[in-house]
Amino acid sequence: MLECEGLSVTYADGRRALRGITLRIPSGSFLGLCGANGSGKSTLALALSGVIPQAIDAQVGGAVLLDGKPLPPLNELARSVGVLFQDAEAQIVSVTAEEEAAFVTDNLGMPKRNAVRAMRMMGVLPLRDRLTNELSGGEIQRLLLSSILAAEPPILILDEPSAFLDSRGVRDLYGALARLKKRGKTVVCAEQNTKLLEELADDVVFLKNGRIATEGKRILSNHSMLHSLGVISPNEL
Ligand SMILES: Nc1ncnc2c1ncn2[C@@H]1O[C@H](COP(=O)(O)OP(=O)(O)OP(=O)(O)O)[C@@H](O)[C@H]1O
Ligand SMILES: [Mg+2]
Repeated sequence: MLECEGLSVTYADGRRALRGITLRIPSGSFLGLCGANGSGKSTLALALSGVIPQAIDAQVGGAVLLDGKPLPPLNELARSVGVLFQDAEAQIVSVTAEEEAAFVTDNLGMPKRNAVRAMRMMGVLPLRDRLTNELSGGEIQRLLLSSILAAEPPILILDEPSAFLDSRGVRDLYGALARLKKRGKTVVCAEQNTKLLEELADDVVFLKNGRIATEGKRILSNHSMLHSLGVISPNEL
């Protein structure tokens, strides 16, 4: 179980991005984080993953707990929580696809076969010799997912994974996420694509100005509520 209690985040410039967020995310469930631009989705995703404050400077109040304990330090975090950032291309650090897929596991001293297995699962093994700067957005997305998954974290935190994908890329992503869900991964997904959430999420939390405005999958069919939250409803997509 991943949970946060009274979580608040204030960035170094004094901007308060989250206030009093309390969430319980049962193991194996898929939680969507939805809301307008600037509502706090990325901040919440990064705080739940420990990237805030461990790698991004911010003042954090309240607590984030994984199975009742504080999140592990950054150098061990990838074994527990895999994170895909909103700007996926900026997350690429290697020249070839195969090096990128093995980046996380190499750092953890885990065997190469983990990376190969994860590349196969994400359908990017045929790209292993390609240069990362020549890959498409969808290929990068799935390559980074394989790098993260190679470390076998029980929890995945994804920040708008569908944002830069075309319809084929989104379909591939749906398939990949559905498979991960079936394998029992806990997935937290910041996402404005309400169709994806309708299809895959067990629960959806809607953020507004850094607070939880409302929660529940049923909101996805409440047009006026979605409108007031600045979110496009699934049948308008
Ligand atoms: N590094 C930062 N420093 C200062 N303020 C930030 C930083 N990152 C985000 N913010 C601010 O925090 C608030 C929440 O931003 P956040 O990126 O979490 O929203 P979001 O819901 O992910 O938006 P989007 O849909 O545009 O991705 C915004 O007011 C934003 O300007
Ligand atoms: Mg964001």
